[in-house]
Amino acid sequence: MQNKTKNTQKHGQRDGFATSLGVIAATLGSAVGLGNIWKFPYVTGENGGAAFILIYLLCLLFVGLPVLITELVVGRKAKSNAVRAFKKLAPHQPWFLTGAAGVLSAFLILCFYTTVAGWVYSYVFKAFTGAIYVTSAESSRSIFDSFITGWEPLLWQWVVLVVTGTVIMAGVSHGIERVTKFLMPLLFILLVLSDVRALTLPNAMEGLKFLLEPDWSKITGTAVLTALGLSFFKLSLGMGTMITYGSYMGEQENLVSTALKVASSDTLVSLMAGMAIFPAVFAFGFEPDAGPSLLFITIPMVFSSMPLGRIFLVLFFSLVAIAATTAMISLLEAPVAYLTEERGWSRKKATLLTLLAVALLGATATLSFNLLAEFKLLGRTMFDFFDFITSSVFMPLSGLLGALFVGWFWSRKELEAEATNGGALANGGIVGIYYNVLKYVVPIAITIILLNGLNFF
Ligand code: PHE
Repeated sequence: MQNKTKNTQKHGQRDGFATSLGVIAATLGSAVGLGNIWKFPYVTGENGGAAFILIYLLCLLFVGLPVLITELVVGRKAKSNAVRAFKKLAPHQPWFLTGAAGVLSAFLILCFYTTVAGWVYSYVFKAFTGAIYVTSAESSRSIFDSFITGWEPLLWQWVVLVVTGTVIMAGVSHGIERVTKFLMPLLFILLVLSDVRALTLPNAMEGLKFLLEPDWSKITGTAVLTALGLSFFKLSLGMGTMITYGSYMGEQENLVSTALKVASSDTLVSLMAGMAIFPAVFAFGFEPDAGPSLLFITIPMVFSSMPLGRIFLVLFFSLVAIAATTAMISLLEAPVAYLTEERGWSRKKATLLTLLAVALLGATATLSFNLLAEFKLLGRTMFDFFDFITSSVFMPLSGLLGALFVGWFWSRKELEAEATNGGALANGGIVGIYYNVLKYVVPIAITIILLNGLNFF
């Protein structure tokens, strides 16, 4: 079996997405994740609602989308993992470090993302058994606090790793494509059900207003930078994942329209998550700006107070678990693709060893609330350190280098040829506009995120 894998690779027949629907399901699966249902709502809550969303949309349009298009284009053009992609397009030059920063970053993100995903998995289970069905804010908080300071989260992190690894080991078309094609529609149905429940609560309009009526006084420089960083994290950029997924897309796929569909659907999912959460929060008189604990403390409390709440609590956490899983699949695929193609490892070996490394290093993130609470790196717990080093350093760095590569080094002709499938598609206009955005706007915007992340402002 191993020989067979190596042989097919030697002859250049890589596994890939078999259908256009699979392309959308997998790519959207990567974009939709804890970012939509955990980060987006609490960040929006903290930054004043609608005005923040408008700023976010601008960041998406002028930074996120052009970078997403180019990552898919670079991936498909090179048909290889994120590191080799740059080696192929720019031989004997150090641009491959862009891909290397991305792959390393995907690995490091897994270390803390699997911690939060583990909490989510356990909350699905606890919602089933009724353990998080609470009567007061204090009990909701104490359930969460005693859970994350215990040892149980470590076990859930391993469950998460086994689930994700099983999908990756099954391969690109048999694993990633098949699973995301099934899970993404399910996620959408659960989200619609949650929205219907939340929007039919008395006083739901208050929550909707919060999402739709901008309050510009809340918009500060930090809010803009947060929106910019979020648009990157949301579209899984700067981590080698979109380059890797692009490399699995067939010659006939329209990459520009794929990027547009993914970015708009991802935004829709974020807004729909907000529409499930805020009306419910307002209906029961809670505050919207609860921060990261919005999902784990406020939501169980809110759902416990509503009719049919217990069922909806299970549905809601299941949907978060699905979102987290499809995003983790793409995070794991980036290093696995690198290890199989660059090191010649079998897919099984690459997956198992990456998972082992995530289990060991990721345990330090999970235990940041327990044994390692006092252990600090750069003044942060390990959990915060992984978040910081990836979101504030590696991700913008790799995104910046990628944009500089395409805008200043690679030829515009090749970019256009790949984005229009050799002239067959009418994408020339949009690529022309984005080329200049990519050349000038994106590098400046990302440099600002980077300097902000490193506390220069
Ligand atoms: N986009 C995912 C989310 O919103 C996170 C992610 C980042 C996934 C980078 C893959 C790569 O949660």
